[in-house]
This record gives sequence, C-alpha cells and structure tokens, in this order.
Amino acid sequence: MQTIDDLNVAGRRVLVRTDFNVPLETLADGTRHITDDGRIRAALPTITALRDRGARVILVAHLGRPKDGPSVELSLAPISRRLGELLGSTVVLASDVSGEGAARAVGAMHDGDVVLLENVRFDARETSKDAAVRGALAVELAALADIFVSDGFGVVHREQASVTDVARLLPHAAGKLVLSEAQVFSKVLSDPDRPYVVILGGSKVSDKLGVITNLLTKVDRLLVGGGMCFTFLAAMGYNVGSSLLEVDQIETVKNLIAQAAARNVELVLPVDVVVATAFSADAEHKIVAADQIEDGWMGLDIGPNSQLLFASRITDAKTVVWNGPMGVFEMTPYAQGTRAVATAITEVNGLTVVGGGDSAAAVRLLGIDEHGFTHISTGGGASLELLEGRVLPGLAVLED
Ligand code: 3PG
Repeated sequence: MQTIDDLNVAGRRVLVRTDFNVPLETLADGTRHITDDGRIRAALPTITALRDRGARVILVAHLGRPKDGPSVELSLAPISRRLGELLGSTVVLASDVSGEGAARAVGAMHDGDVVLLENVRFDARETSKDAAVRGALAVELAALADIFVSDGFGVVHREQASVTDVARLLPHAAGKLVLSEAQVFSKVLSDPDRPYVVILGGSKVSDKLGVITNLLTKVDRLLVGGGMCFTFLAAMGYNVGSSLLEVDQIETVKNLIAQAAARNVELVLPVDVVVATAFSADAEHKIVAADQIEDGWMGLDIGPNSQLLFASRITDAKTVVWNGPMGVFEMTPYAQGTRAVATAITEVNGLTVVGGGDSAAAVRLLGIDEHGFTHISTGGGASLELLEGRVLPGLAVLED
C-alpha cells in the first residue's frame, strides 16, 4: 500500500476521500451544530501534511444518506466551517460535487489551498450498485485532480465511486488515518500480544455475530455487556424480564458459548445488572444479580460487581479491543458500566483499541481522556467488518 510519503504532491491537485459523516443537531435558531467533530480532527494530519508539501487539497466526503439529491440539511457547509476553524484558514465549499461549481473552485486554487466538494451523496451515482454508473461519477471526480488519497477509514467498507472507482483512475495512496487504522487492525487480527481481551457491548447480538465468530478463534477472553448480554443470559437459562432480547438468536448464542468453551476462551458475562422499570433516566432502578431479573424490569447497565469483574479480566491484558457500550451511557444512572470498563482499559499496559461508532462517542461524552487509549477508530461499520475478518474494498483497491 503506497502512502502519501511515496508521492510527489507539490503543486499537484490531490483528491482526498475523507469521512466527515459527523453527528449534527439543529439549534433553536435553525443553525446546525456539530456535536462530535472527532472525524474532522482525525483528517487533519493528512490534510496538513499535503498542504505543507505544496499540494492543492480537494476533499470529497459524504454526510448522511440523502435520497433526493441536494438539501440544505445535508450540505457540508457546517463541516467546511469547522474544518476552516481547525486548520486556521479558509476552506472553500464547492457548490456541487463534480460539476461547474467544483471545476470553478478547483480552477481558482493555489498551492496549499483546501476545497471541499459538496456532499458526494447528493449525486446518486456515488452509491449506485451499477459499476458503470459509479464509474461515470468517478471519471468526473478524477478529472478534478492528479492524485487520489484515501483517508476516509469510515467508508472503506463501501464500494462507492469516491471510495473505490476513483482510486482505479488516478495514482493513489493511503492517507495517514487510513494507514494507521489499517495497521492497528492488522496487528489485533493477525499478531496480537497476549493476554488478548475483547469487550463487546451495544444493543444487538445479531450485529456482532460475525465479529464474535471470527474473534473466538483468536482471543483469550471475551467480555460481553450492553443490551446484547441479555441474549447471552437468556441462553444460560436466566429470566431477563423486559430487557432487550433477541429470541431468534438464543440458539446461535448457545452455540457460541459452546464454541468458546471448546476453544478455551474465557467468556465473561455480567454477574449483576442495573434494572429499571422503564427505558428512562427517571425510572425506578435497582441492582440485582444477573440471574434474578424479575418480570417488569429491564437491564440497562452492568452492575458494580460486574464492573469489578470486568476490570479484573482487563487489567493484565496486552491487547484490548472494545466495541460497544456496556449500558445506556447517555443516561447518567446507566453510564457507570461503560465508564468503569473504559477506565479499566485506559489503565492497561498494552495495545488498546476502541472500535468506532458508539464506543468512541461514549469515550468523548463521558469525558474520558482519549489519550488513555492507543487507538480510537473512526470507523463504525468499517471496523466491525474488519473484525469480522472481511476484505474491505476501499483497502483492497489501494493494494493495486
Ligand atoms: C459511518 O458513519 O459509519 C460512515 O460514514 C459510513 O456511512 P454509511 O453507513 O452511511 O455508508
């Protein structure tokens, strides 16, 4: 895989695919506000390195999943403003993706300038299943630039015009973010130091089956919390009250429990849980043993004994991968499990990786120092697919 250090970029137009798909909220005055700019900050090292070497940096990115072409709600205007603040210089937002607006903005660039193309998914060809249709957009994007750099790790699992097709048309390289993400995941998947501990949470076990199946062949311990743990507890024969439960996955989970035992993987489940009468921060709540959940109560976090147990199974690890919160961390009464696990991971003396999506958001929302982790992935779906052992098209194309 070539990196940007292998390319001569001075005075060249470099098209950089970034992942600026950040959460936004609309304020009372109608303006849109970025609630977590982690993905924008993660793109800065590549953008800065290219500018410092005299490149003209053309950024291509998506926001959301627009269905009907351009809209004000999904314009990249808030992103260009925030990026400009972080870079301390102007970021010009082109008025379209690859049309006259883009050509005009790129044509006016000087060395070191940054242009952001409008939301690439405003053009339906970006996500077409038809390679020829995607290819037509890729040709237009390639015409704007001399070189392509892939730095949107969060989209490398997508076969899309600005991710894979354009890479086939231009000299290409991995940006610093994609390179560091690819290196970290390669290490945890193929050469982990031991003990190797994986902690999985989040709501649905069905979303993580591929990950569990693949990781059971590699890890020493698997800790399961979050909404998905209740399907495990049900598979153990426990009553889970009105907790989140995927009844159709109970047999599959029984099978996974048996596989873990056969492979000598230590499977660690909560021994107590915080249960509440409703999915609400104000609901009546209490701590009960994991096999004592009564009807009418739902588990919303792992309990204090589970927090101690999980921490004790994390502390001596040399490799930790964590994906998915332990409870409903957005509500204060149910945030303690996620906080305890995150804190235990920051105390590990080894390689610690936080999968993207909700776990990365939890770290930031709970105010846990991000420097306590070796790597916080910017990819939600992309990191899960890598952990499933899949070959991702946006990475494979960079090997050619
Ligand atoms: C993400 O948010 O995980 C990436 O930006 C990919 O977005 P998508 O799931 O809409 O393709």
